[in-house]
Amino acid sequence: MIPLQKNAFLNEKETRRALADFIIQTERLSMGEKCREFKEVFAKKQGRTDAVLFTSGGGANLALFQALKNLGQLKNGDLVGFSGLTWSTNVMPIIQMGLTPVIIDCDPQTLNVMSHHLEEVLGRKKLQALFITNVLGFAGDLEKIREICKKHNVILLEDNCESLGTELPTGKTGNFGVASTFSFFVAHHMSTIEGGMICTDDEDIGEMLRIVRANGWDRNLTSAQQQRLRTKHNISSEFDAKYTFYHLGFNVRPTEIVGFLGLFQLQYLDENVRAREKNYLEIEKYVRKNDDFFTLNRDHLTTLSSFAIPIICKTSELKEKYAKIFAEAGIEIRPMIAGNIQRQPFYKIHVEEIRHLPGTDIIHDNGFYCGNYPELTEDDIQTITRCLEKNE
Ligand SMILES: Cc1ncc(COP(=O)(O)O)c(C=O)c1O
Repeated sequence: MIPLQKNAFLNEKETRRALADFIIQTERLSMGEKCREFKEVFAKKQGRTDAVLFTSGGGANLALFQALKNLGQLKNGDLVGFSGLTWSTNVMPIIQMGLTPVIIDCDPQTLNVMSHHLEEVLGRKKLQALFITNVLGFAGDLEKIREICKKHNVILLEDNCESLGTELPTGKTGNFGVASTFSFFVAHHMSTIEGGMICTDDEDIGEMLRIVRANGWDRNLTSAQQQRLRTKHNISSEFDAKYTFYHLGFNVRPTEIVGFLGLFQLQYLDENVRAREKNYLEIEKYVRKNDDFFTLNRDHLTTLSSFAIPIICKTSELKEKYAKIFAEAGIEIRPMIAGNIQRQPFYKIHVEEIRHLPGTDIIHDNGFYCGNYPELTEDDIQTITRCLEKNE
């Protein structure tokens, strides 16, 4: 059996042992020093000035939209573009925050929204923001997308929950938008069991995210930021300040376990991105040889940080055929993320407009993926590549 994932962590045994020791020895388990250290190291590694740690990627997405609303950068009813191929909690926060989701098609050969899709949408709609998903380690032509957003005054946000470590010649995914979200759920590139992050270089967004993350209060701000807020609202005593709530928020704070695991897993990340990329490139050779499949285009990427092997067949009949071959070989497969998100029940309840998305439909109807992780053995890879051979 080749499951979608084998372990909860990179270097499973060492991580579990270290986690057990940490829990026994640490005095504090609620958000503290380890969370602070992890977000600092992560921001530096990603190349952003600030990072804010959350309970999950979905929680980070929700907090990001709440923060932009609190700052007045987004208002009720504003149009927010997003990728047709995405995860539920990418678009749900757009709906939950009273914004208007505008779906954008994806290209079956890059799995992503491309600049020409965005231009087509901007020709008929005035977007206030674009929340683009970088899908399964792949990405669209993000430099061009960034330029278009700048020209049209669209706030570019990236859901990078599936693409930590992917690079383009002009930078890492997650560094093209004003802010970007990450997930550390098991089976992603690195795991804190549950966990998420937002990276940004924007001080106002960083400050507001800390308010939104914890109850709407100011306890996790710098003393200068606290002073400014307290003066503005005439809060003069520490007694009152501790229980003053300035903006709408949630409780989406991580625990020290998330901070500890994040730091511990980070040391293995680069080596694992390389191992997964190597697996992907080996398997891709067999995809290329078989014209039943689309070959995914990664020419514009300098690093493909993969954790899945997407197989996009030319027809839905071929998808059925290869899905059966994979199942019979004991390889676990699953649909392409959440597919064309318009087809999900929640979407139809909350969004009236359903659009024709030819590219996303191909991915939904003709695609599936199996797992890609460092523990795949040569035998496992051979089992996968055998399934990709064309047997007339
Ligand atoms: C694109 C995307 N966004 C957001 C999420 C949510 O992340 P989490 O599971 O950490 O809440 C996921 C989860 O897989 C995802 O794939």
